[in-house]
Amino acid sequence: MQHFSLQLKTIFSSLVLFSLFTACNPEKKSIETTDSITEIDSTNQMTTSTPTDIHTFAMPEDAKITHLDLKLNVDFENKMLSGIATYDVEIQNNIDKIYLDTRSLTIENVEVDGQKANFELATEDKNLGQKLTIPVTDESKKVTITYKTSSDAEALQWLSPSQTAGKKSPFLFTQSQAILARTWVPTQDSPGIRFTYTAEVTVPKDLMAVMSAENPQQKNDSGIYSFKMEQPIPAYLLALAVGDLRFQPIGERTGVYAEPSVISKAAYEFEEMDKMLEAAETLYGKYAWGRYDLIVLPPSFPFGGMENPRLTFATPTILAGDRSLTSLVAHELAHSWSGNLVTNATWNDFWLNEGFTVYFENRIMEEVYGKDYAEMLALISYQDLKSEVAAMTSAGSAEDTKLKLDLTDRNPDDGVTSIAYDKGFYLLKLIENTVGREKFDTFLNKYFTEYAFKTTNTEDFLTYLDKNLLSQVEGSMETINPKKWIYETGIPANIPKIESERYDKSIAAAQSWKDGTPAAQLDTKDWTYQQWLFFLRALPNQLSSQQMDELDKKFKFSETGNNEVLGEWLVKVAHNQYEKSYPQLRKFLVNVGRRKFLSPIYSELIANEKTIPLAKEIYEEAKPNYHFVASSSIEKMLAKKEDK
Ligand code: BES
Ligand code: ZN
Repeated sequence: MQHFSLQLKTIFSSLVLFSLFTACNPEKKSIETTDSITEIDSTNQMTTSTPTDIHTFAMPEDAKITHLDLKLNVDFENKMLSGIATYDVEIQNNIDKIYLDTRSLTIENVEVDGQKANFELATEDKNLGQKLTIPVTDESKKVTITYKTSSDAEALQWLSPSQTAGKKSPFLFTQSQAILARTWVPTQDSPGIRFTYTAEVTVPKDLMAVMSAENPQQKNDSGIYSFKMEQPIPAYLLALAVGDLRFQPIGERTGVYAEPSVISKAAYEFEEMDKMLEAAETLYGKYAWGRYDLIVLPPSFPFGGMENPRLTFATPTILAGDRSLTSLVAHELAHSWSGNLVTNATWNDFWLNEGFTVYFENRIMEEVYGKDYAEMLALISYQDLKSEVAAMTSAGSAEDTKLKLDLTDRNPDDGVTSIAYDKGFYLLKLIENTVGREKFDTFLNKYFTEYAFKTTNTEDFLTYLDKNLLSQVEGSMETINPKKWIYETGIPANIPKIESERYDKSIAAAQSWKDGTPAAQLDTKDWTYQQWLFFLRALPNQLSSQQMDELDKKFKFSETGNNEVLGEWLVKVAHNQYEKSYPQLRKFLVNVGRRKFLSPIYSELIANEKTIPLAKEIYEEAKPNYHFVASSSIEKMLAKKEDK
């Protein structure tokens, strides 16, 4: 047995080396590589192929974690977590070390099966953090690490009471994706390494803690909360939020958490969560995680949403009051299949998480709101893709417009662009259109079932796609040419064209206004927010103050409760230096920490010498409200301008 597994390991290592080699030569990617890995998989314990993840120090083929038991104390005064992380580990024969990822952590003590261990903490790598080396033997079963977080923990955002809705209690939330989990838990921080977890979190008595796990629905008197995540997850899905929270159920399996003053608005906004969950299950199979709840965080949350399993984290900027922005819920829910169940093996394969999710989101929205609605979403996606490709190409980063990324020596955050989302979506849409919806759905169902709780990479997927779908539909491989989408830059000519009547109406109205029809005479009855987006996007870049006045007076853009429309309007405000809307612009930038909204507005302000001082002044005021993820992006933009 010993000899057998050693031999497998040798074969495995050479395969890893080979795939490393092919990763540098995408054109030469051979089907044999992935096939042989799959074969090995079916004959030994390794459940999935593990292509090398360049963003971790862990060597999972040698030694990996399988379960985490976390004891955590949340200290708001010192903005510090102190913890004891105990891992169940699986060590291969003849391996004497296990490697974990850490960043900005103080490691106080390490024990292996109850014996103090001589651990080593390496110097910091600028992208990866510090490698934690722990000596082990073949027999080692448990590794216990006592540690503290620091004030630079990039995953954590500590909010003062004034930064919350209630203004009375502090708030803490984590954001672990892509590689920030290591700043609050020493771990093997790779999407290809899954583990189950239990946790006990101690918080101030008047607050409640929730995690990406089985959650409490009520505060208790002790301030001690216990959690259990029975399905294995990668570290980027570890999540914690602490605050003055309330829970309100929506359906049998769904509910929302929020601060007391937000809870009823949230429950109203997300009333369709249960319907979405049912639609998703009808499409692609049973929901694998038990409950599906959502927490509305304070506005500084840097993303729209984060698919933490069992508990989506969401920005309050989608509380429009009219349920118009709930496609974000469909998106995060869809990740329960694409991403959380079938996970991208490395961040170079990020499109497998996000492209599939945008496609799945679109299908859920079609089920719940109809074809018209889904078409508009697809068109927004197309516009985002077009402008992203144009911007990236002119910024000299055309290479990153390939679906398969090369993030060597870079932070995976560099790969978070609309390429993964929208180009990924359109490739899947093209496959659907070419083979027919029925066949594609059967294929996706099989894919989600066969890869459940496993990882996959781009090459694996291509092989699987060919074997299980394209080879059965004559000519489809040539029609689609997926390799062009994946390994080449830009937008392929065979991108599906989406037709939408509502879109056409918006474009016609914008044209008519450009041709001289006064805003007051445009027919905008019953427009959805997407139509307003299309309209704004179709206007000329350059608008006079008079024109801005006319538009705002008639359509009240600067007062809209729909943050997607407001965000688009404020881009125009910044571009045209429309000072009348500066109070709204400032208020928005100071209160909202969602990077997707901040970046385009700051980008306009920074692009013009005249408005750079305003950008800097607002940024100084707003910075305490921004999470690291958002502030670092804006600082990069400012620094780039100064370099020039
Ligand atoms: N998983 C992402 C957010 C993310 C990606 C965080 C990469 C860190 C690194 C999430 O599912 C997402 O895509 N959020 C979008 C939502 C939108 C596409 C509906 C967002 O935040 O805007
Ligand atoms: Zn997503």
